[in-house]
Amino acid sequence: MLVLLLGLGVLAFVGDVVLSHTTRAWFERDLSLRANLAVSSASQSLAAAWGDRAQLTSVLTDISRDERIIGAAACSDDGQFAAATPAFPPEFDCARITALMKEDGSRVDGAWMATRELLTGVVHLSAMPVAGVGGMVVLVHDLGFLGRREATTRTILVVAFLLLALGSLVMSTLASRFAWRDWTLDLRRALAGDAPREFQPLLRDVRNLVERLSKERESEAPGHPWSADRLKATLSEHLHGERVVILANREPYIHEKTETGIRVLHPASGLVTALEPVMRACSGVWVAHGNGSADRETVDAKDRVKVPPGEDSYQVRRVWLTPEEEQGYYYGFSNEGLWPLCHIAHTRPVFRSADWAQYQKVNRRFADAVCEEVDSDDPIVLVQDYHFALAPRMIRERLPKATILTFWHIPWPNAERLGICPWREEIISGLLGSSIIGFHTQQHCNNFIDSVDAFMESRIDRERSAVVQGRRSTLVRPYPISIEWPVHWLDDAPSIADCRAQVRRELGLADDALVGVGIDRLDYTKGIEERLSAVDELLTRHPEFRGKFTFVQLAAPSRTKILQYQQLNERVEALTETINAKWAVGTYRPIVLLRAHHEPPTVFKFFRAAELCYVSSLHDGMNLVAKEFVAAHDDEQGVLVLSQFTGAARDLTEALIVNPYDLSQAADAMAAALHMPKDEQRERMQSMRKLVSEFNVYRWAGRMLIDAAELRRRERMTGRFTALTSNHHVP
Ligand code: F6P
Repeated sequence: MLVLLLGLGVLAFVGDVVLSHTTRAWFERDLSLRANLAVSSASQSLAAAWGDRAQLTSVLTDISRDERIIGAAACSDDGQFAAATPAFPPEFDCARITALMKEDGSRVDGAWMATRELLTGVVHLSAMPVAGVGGMVVLVHDLGFLGRREATTRTILVVAFLLLALGSLVMSTLASRFAWRDWTLDLRRALAGDAPREFQPLLRDVRNLVERLSKERESEAPGHPWSADRLKATLSEHLHGERVVILANREPYIHEKTETGIRVLHPASGLVTALEPVMRACSGVWVAHGNGSADRETVDAKDRVKVPPGEDSYQVRRVWLTPEEEQGYYYGFSNEGLWPLCHIAHTRPVFRSADWAQYQKVNRRFADAVCEEVDSDDPIVLVQDYHFALAPRMIRERLPKATILTFWHIPWPNAERLGICPWREEIISGLLGSSIIGFHTQQHCNNFIDSVDAFMESRIDRERSAVVQGRRSTLVRPYPISIEWPVHWLDDAPSIADCRAQVRRELGLADDALVGVGIDRLDYTKGIEERLSAVDELLTRHPEFRGKFTFVQLAAPSRTKILQYQQLNERVEALTETINAKWAVGTYRPIVLLRAHHEPPTVFKFFRAAELCYVSSLHDGMNLVAKEFVAAHDDEQGVLVLSQFTGAARDLTEALIVNPYDLSQAADAMAAALHMPKDEQRERMQSMRKLVSEFNVYRWAGRMLIDAAELRRRERMTGRFTALTSNHHVP
């Protein structure tokens, strides 16, 4: 309808322009002809009166009796007035008209004509020679009437087009009413169950879809935050089951032998931080590598143990690896090959055939363990991370109807870089066994799709962001991971004031000491050396913090069997010593390096005690430490200094975003953080807390499950439709 009205508007405008141009040309030509006629019919009188000004004026007055003629004049060949009527416009004299005739104007039947604008209005000039006297008569016509006529024409035109538009509007509304009524009647009838039997299943799906969409819209409205309960409800509503099976290398609870008995540890892992609350909400089984020294002693006959201790809301199924398997699959292919391949941190990937063989074997073993743990032929399986690129296809082969959600917790490299891996096709093909592959950012999704494009034979549906193989699609979507909200570790945490006092006391710092914190696995992607050097730079550039500011680095030893990690460990220690020696005064040391595993309550104590947290990753899929620091500060104080190379930098825009390689910038950002007024800290922290609370890990998992359910429905419908149409074609 809008298009129709626009079309009519454009038509009216063009019509108006064309019409006014044409009518003007017609009228001007008409005036010239009439002037010519008047002069030629009076030619004898003119010739007789030429030389007698009074008589000539009288003849001119006769000629100009027409109400549209303003005045007439007779000009001699030498450009002098022979005579003129009193109303002849003073703007024109014979010399001027002669000059104008030389400049421009057109000629009709030997008469010259032109149009000019005077203060009093537009006039039309025509000059005709008078036969036998060597002079000419000039008539000046009023063209004001033409403007009035044009205005009248335009009004008529607009009214005509309006009537036309109104008519079209009424006609098309009536037409669509009748059509819509028919269509909705059909649809209502169909939804009420009157449709042909073969379309009933399709209609049931349509009905469900409409219902679900309206519920989803309702639930996305403000005031409906994602929580553990909502995730649970989503799971049972959309996927008709509550039991999920997670496959992840790292287990959420490690049983360790100590001198005093068995102790439960929570590993330092972003993956565990995110997934553990999801599992507590959903229940089910977490299949993982059992590598704690007391892990075997704590499982049942089927290698399962209920967790969290005392709560028993889900199970961990432990898979045991031989030292060779662990070496090849975990240390070798996963962490010396894929890890540096996916991170731009300047450590060369190493790919060994022997590691690849172990990687394949171990993926098969874990895939089998998953298939043993499911309780239906269409289970929901969450495959986690780069340790299990091959498992999705292996699981799909055994459970074709499974919903497999794979999440890649680290960056995905561009296609050129992926090309370094000798088994890139196998890696991609394995992942494409998934229903959905999730990454933290759109950039990583794009890189993955480009890699499929570069190395695989398959159809890419860019509109849906999916890779299509036969009747199966794998969606490729960004799902920025997050943390639980509220964080359960904060339930019993000491107050901020107590945390501040405790930490300063434990570290032997003054009560008013300023504290910065960094908490990571000791990994070369985390930019720990750059971070410590930035502290050095801070003290160089901002002397006011010497003796006052202490940076506490909690570093959990990680992958210590790999040479690069051992070297990093040594370099970090040496750098700490150098910087501390440089700025030491009395007992003051600017850096405190706590190289050990720290349990979550301690981690949160340090977060709460610190004025700032510096996350300096050189490349990081997301980095949940940044989000945990924000969660820890329920006092809405504290400043986050955050590397631009983390996925978190896209979410936490109120952090001070820095390039960790730019030491001066990072140092100045830390100085700005330490000088920042409390109001500004509050404003930034409030905004980041709002974001993390809304975009929490329940939402992350919920969105993936909803998309998976949608995909299942779509595939079911496509399957039915294909079955229906192929039935119709059976002769
Ligand atoms: O969160 C990123 C991550 O690399 C996970 O993929 C991994 O589980 C975790 O950090 C810790 O690594 P690891 O399990 O080798 O100790």
